[in-house]
Amino acid sequence: MTLARLLRTKPTERIVAEGGHGEGGELRRTMSLWQLTLFSVGATLGTGIFVILGQAVPKAGPAVVLAFGLAAITALFSALSYAELAGTIPVAGSSYSYAYATLGELVAWVCGWCLMLEYAVSVAAVAVGWGEYLNAFLRALPGFTLPDAITHSPGQGGGVVNVTAILIVLLTTWLLLYGASESATANAVFVLIKVAVLLFFCVVAFTAFSSGNLAPFAPMGIAGITAAASQVFFSYIGFDAASTAGEEARNPRRDLPLAIILSLAVVTAVYVLVAVAAVGAMPWTDFDPEGTEAGLSHIAGLATGATWPGLVVSFGAVIAIASVVLTVIYGQTRILFAMSRDGLIPRVFQRVNPRRQVPVANTLLVALFISVLAGLVPLGQLAEATSIGTLFAFAIVNVGVLVLRYRSPELPRGFRVPFFPATPVLGAILCVVVMAGLAGVTWLAFGLWMLAGLFCYFAYGYGHSRLNAEVS
Ligand code: ALA
Repeated sequence: MTLARLLRTKPTERIVAEGGHGEGGELRRTMSLWQLTLFSVGATLGTGIFVILGQAVPKAGPAVVLAFGLAAITALFSALSYAELAGTIPVAGSSYSYAYATLGELVAWVCGWCLMLEYAVSVAAVAVGWGEYLNAFLRALPGFTLPDAITHSPGQGGGVVNVTAILIVLLTTWLLLYGASESATANAVFVLIKVAVLLFFCVVAFTAFSSGNLAPFAPMGIAGITAAASQVFFSYIGFDAASTAGEEARNPRRDLPLAIILSLAVVTAVYVLVAVAAVGAMPWTDFDPEGTEAGLSHIAGLATGATWPGLVVSFGAVIAIASVVLTVIYGQTRILFAMSRDGLIPRVFQRVNPRRQVPVANTLLVALFISVLAGLVPLGQLAEATSIGTLFAFAIVNVGVLVLRYRSPELPRGFRVPFFPATPVLGAILCVVVMAGLAGVTWLAFGLWMLAGLFCYFAYGYGHSRLNAEVS
């Protein structure tokens, strides 16, 4: 084993040339700019705004609005880097493929392994949450409640198997097997519903707006705002989802960068508006740091004195989470597709069904893995572990922009980050700063995850890598 082999990069032109091709069939280029943008919004806008907003208010007070802004700026630096690489290397593997082109196979593997935290593991946690939202919604309809045994993970609140979590995974998998375009259309409907429900929440909450609720604006000072920003960073994860659709986009070089930046803009606007409406309608001291999905519904109820607005908001949360599950499972399958094409994981993940033009076996295996995880494992504390893996991948993307600009300045780029090299350098530094703010136990979990990843690479990927086989 030589270091040179581990650090070998895959030529960018070759990555691009392989795009779309799988074993047995090809992916279909059907997604428009509009669908790609909604794909990223679909993957991003979810539990962060429905739950974590409420939990972050006690940390920062009404200044939680600034925390959302701060987290958005952190995300923006990385989003610009994603936009540049997605417009230069428009393939399915997202940051995994970008790392393979710039930093070599080992880093690419580590990046792909981190993406599993961002995608598969996080979506299992999100699916667990979906069951709770569904139950909260049903509870509000008199006479409907699902038993704890099927809505909680084993060992938590009387749970046996979390059937609701498995249900949402199966429902979205069924949609994904239909085709990428059909899934994108379903996602577009979900996103429009969730944005409409959040705007409805804003209208309702603004009727109870009191400027007195905004004073004092930052009771915990700057430290409170930055702590809240680290927490709400989770709500921005997912803007990169469009970059996994590089091989199914109609005009990837132009549309992927636009979709990534547009989705971040839409999501930031919605978040800031919802945060202003929420803290304007209810004194910040009334927010519960342990609060659950009922946060926004509760405010809607308080503002109107009626129960139906809360019901509408709960319904929005059920739809919102469904679209996160749909888009994130999609993203995971496409990343594995790219890794399989490179030989780093078994070939079954790159098989494309010629009729449906989707990787059917891959999608079913991913769904099985996520269902087992979501149905049987209590996943309470996963949000932070998800963030650390994501931030690591984001940092690699920022470094990738630097490397590729210096090494291959001539490549056609659909988008170029402004203020180069300051933007990607700052982007990488911000990722490391936010990572450093995460808890020690999260770092420990991350370290163990990485060790497992390295073991898998040396046990399988290293020996089966197509690039390395050609070299030998
Ligand atoms: N950003 C996604 C959410 O908030 C992960 O649910």
